[in-house]
Amino acid sequence: MELDLKSLNKKNIETLKSLKKEREKVIHDSTSNPIKNNYVANELAKTLYPNIQHIKIADITEETQDTKTFVLVPNINAGTKKLAYFKPGQYITLAANIEGGIYNRPYTISCSPKNAIEDNTYTITIRKRPNGIVSNYFFDKVKIDDEFDISCPSGEFYYERLRDAKNVIAIAGGNGINPFMSMAEAIVDGILDIKLTIIYGVKTKEDILFHKRLNELSNKNNLIKVVYVLSEEIVPEYETGLISKEIIDKYLENENSFFVCGSLGLYEHMNQILGEYNLPKKYIRHESFFGRTDFRGVEEYNVKVKTCDKEINITCKSRETLLAAMEKNGIKAPSKCHVGECGFCRSRLRMGKVKMIDNSLREADKDYNYIHPCVAFPESDIIIEIPN
Ligand code: FES
Repeated sequence: MELDLKSLNKKNIETLKSLKKEREKVIHDSTSNPIKNNYVANELAKTLYPNIQHIKIADITEETQDTKTFVLVPNINAGTKKLAYFKPGQYITLAANIEGGIYNRPYTISCSPKNAIEDNTYTITIRKRPNGIVSNYFFDKVKIDDEFDISCPSGEFYYERLRDAKNVIAIAGGNGINPFMSMAEAIVDGILDIKLTIIYGVKTKEDILFHKRLNELSNKNNLIKVVYVLSEEIVPEYETGLISKEIIDKYLENENSFFVCGSLGLYEHMNQILGEYNLPKKYIRHESFFGRTDFRGVEEYNVKVKTCDKEINITCKSRETLLAAMEKNGIKAPSKCHVGECGFCRSRLRMGKVKMIDNSLREADKDYNYIHPCVAFPESDIIIEIPN
């Protein structure tokens, strides 16, 4: 069939004319008020995921000789009315100004999300560590009513129904009990629907964190079981030695997810053991806030740090990360996890060579010389551009 171009053009012109009239009417009838720049969805997102939460210390409890629990509440005078919701297992990053340095440190929330919803509180538990600038400051100096800024809850170390098996085997070492404490509390509060077996390794009975509360929770709810494994003490009814495959085997069901939280040593030990189960990758989750500390180099390098409006010259030792050197020198470098996972500190290396460990850089980032300063150790003089 031949196309009648003449009649088609005429028809199109008529349509355009009527459209023009319609548009003119819409423009004529429209409001002259300025366009809105605050939308309900944006306001909701800001409340749910605030960049910064201003908090105060409301209570401090000594758990063991080197561990304290801090209760955080919103600092209403500084503008935070309500603490953001979190999932059991997530952490906040706390910013502390100590002796001219600006330090960010991640701490897992150890209470149930119900505490955030109903009491407007978080709890974090901090262990004193050799050379731990922030942990030692918290342990020795911080008092009730001291004020800090924290990030909104972050991290992927939480149970996700579509990904994880409902039988969760939680392997904890020392302070690594915090996320599982939050999960256990959430099970008792009816917020989390999983079966949780915590296999908790410490040196002696004295070192068990939340001992009384863990026993109360497991007595109260048969979905929670706690197995204590003592490496330097023999106590009846407690397992002795290191966490082993024989111990884990006792608590397995058909389908299991393993969540591992503790030191780098625990993580490497568990990697070997869990490797024997030949599990799909998604069934093994881990969280560790302890980077490698076994670099022993003595060299010191010059580092030029470029921000959008200034350049700062500092030095960095070969055994410290670029992020640690920037923090020590009072440079406000963005960071959250400190173990190369969140990507928050992603910066561009403009000159020099670094040794990167434990990082999850994308291939495209590697091509364009992006690095994670939280896990990057200098191997030469450096020029780095940080986001701010
Ligand atoms: S702070 Fe998370 S990747 Fe560096």
